[in-house]
Amino acid sequence: MLSKNVNSKLNEQIKHEAEASQIYLGMAVWSDIEALGGASEFFYAQSEEEREHMLKIVRFVSGVGGEAVIPSTSTPPAKYKSLKDALEKALMNEKNVTASINKLTSLALTEKDHASYNFLQWFVNEQLEEEQQIQSILTRFELIGEEGMAIHSIDKMMEEMASKSVEKPT
Ligand SMILES: [Fe+2]
Ligand SMILES: [Fe+2]
Repeated sequence: MLSKNVNSKLNEQIKHEAEASQIYLGMAVWSDIEALGGASEFFYAQSEEEREHMLKIVRFVSGVGGEAVIPSTSTPPAKYKSLKDALEKALMNEKNVTASINKLTSLALTEKDHASYNFLQWFVNEQLEEEQQIQSILTRFELIGEEGMAIHSIDKMMEEMASKSVEKPT
């Protein structure tokens, strides 16, 4: 059984994942408008993953007899200065989500809620992977710049990443 405190923090996390899904969806649409097909596929895939994260927590909370609250979400940004700008914001958002997962995991441990603690380990690993993935694209920007064919090459790189993430089991 979940404590009130852990239940409420899990509900906050449900909202963070829902917001993340919306933000990535906004990035996907922006990429479509900018004719960045690979980036768009990448952001659509990320958006779906975030929704899966949300569902994972909803199902966990319900499954252990808690009460999952389905959140409203705010309208995500529709405009970015560049693909690099979008990715920098994506990384910043992921870092915020990581901080929130870490706090939640520590709370579960403090409350000796080992079921939640164990459940959250998956998210700890997932956050690490997601941060590394976005960081690797930003590193490519540092290496090849943002001019001419550089954007095309990064767009291709993101397309490949998107196709891999679709194959990835959840
Ligand atoms: Fe997530
Ligand atoms: Fe994420």
